Amino acid sequence: MEPLKGLILSGGKGTRLRPITHTSAKQLVPVANKPVLFYGIEAMAAAGIEEVGIIIAPDTGPEIEQVAGDGSRFGVRITYLLQDEPLGLAHAVLTAEPFLGTSPFVMYLGDNLLQGGISDLVAAFREHQPDALILLTAVPDPENYGVAELAPAPAGETGQVVRLVEKPQQPATDLALVGVYMFTGQIHDAARAIEPSARGELEITDAIQHLVDSGMRVEPHIVRGWWKDTGRLEDMLEANRLILDTQVERLDGELIDSRVDGRVVIEAGARLERTTVRGPAIIGAGARLTDCYVGPYTAIGERCEITASEVEHSILLAGCTVSDLDGRMESSLLGRNVSVRRGDRQPRAYRFMVGDNSDISIL
Ligand code: G1P
Repeated sequence: MEPLKGLILSGGKGTRLRPITHTSAKQLVPVANKPVLFYGIEAMAAAGIEEVGIIIAPDTGPEIEQVAGDGSRFGVRITYLLQDEPLGLAHAVLTAEPFLGTSPFVMYLGDNLLQGGISDLVAAFREHQPDALILLTAVPDPENYGVAELAPAPAGETGQVVRLVEKPQQPATDLALVGVYMFTGQIHDAARAIEPSARGELEITDAIQHLVDSGMRVEPHIVRGWWKDTGRLEDMLEANRLILDTQVERLDGELIDSRVDGRVVIEAGARLERTTVRGPAIIGAGARLTDCYVGPYTAIGERCEITASEVEHSILLAGCTVSDLDGRMESSLLGRNVSVRRGDRQPRAYRFMVGDNSDISIL
């Protein structure tokens, strides 16, 4: 088999993560202080893929190029491929055709996280040589995904894929298409053969159905570990939990009258004074925490300054300032350079300056 290439889709609008995505790409929102996109690139590198194409959109593409660079830090070569309009995943494949040629490739949605990476799947793809290999997992809300029906199979075996429907109102099964796919060059003709869906997109789900209808072999693989599509706040927080749970303790910063318990990473240049951190948590480089409590499942970005406050189960991007909060901040996502503080003036009141689509709950 020709060497496998990688294709990461990093366009899309990220509407469900507004306002964060008004100013940045959803694929660059950090999980455990690392952009979601990097997990996909690293998974490809770990699976031995050397050539990675990244589909970008005109508005967020330049930032993605700047952050991910030429790929050398990951041990891959990155080629950026501009998709002018978000016309669907199959359209993205066609956009990438000059890069992919006839090579087999792994396609990875850039806002997805898959436990355990893709090395096993790449091995299965090489060994069985199907025309496509799709990843599936049981979900409670299949109507929000592409859904697969499999042929009946003896106990312990998985039947071939017989039907795929994109976001069906009445799903036939609870098996959702995970945002990682493996294709041969056949997929280009299939993507050319289909028509746009009701949402006006060329759906990869329809292109794969076209492969099935043309008698090609589409092999399913049921994902056993976790998989997260990080499109919404709750998903980001959950992804953050899952990744923080797997990190190894490391203390490169400075602790003054402070205490850390459990799986905690303190990056170089961070300084904690009279502060308790209960892991799993990560404190970014150059952060300053004074008289604070940081609870489990919190990722504090670089250069954040937190004073006399409690933060738990939250993601703070770089450069945030939090001070003198009365209550504990929890289940929150703060964008870059956000400032949250309590004043001591009377009468006490709330004063906000927040961007479009922000979401504030006072509990
Ligand atoms: C896309 C695919 C869908 C798949 C999902 C996985 O949906 O169209 O089949 O199940 O990714 O995240 P979208 O995110 O475009 O709504």
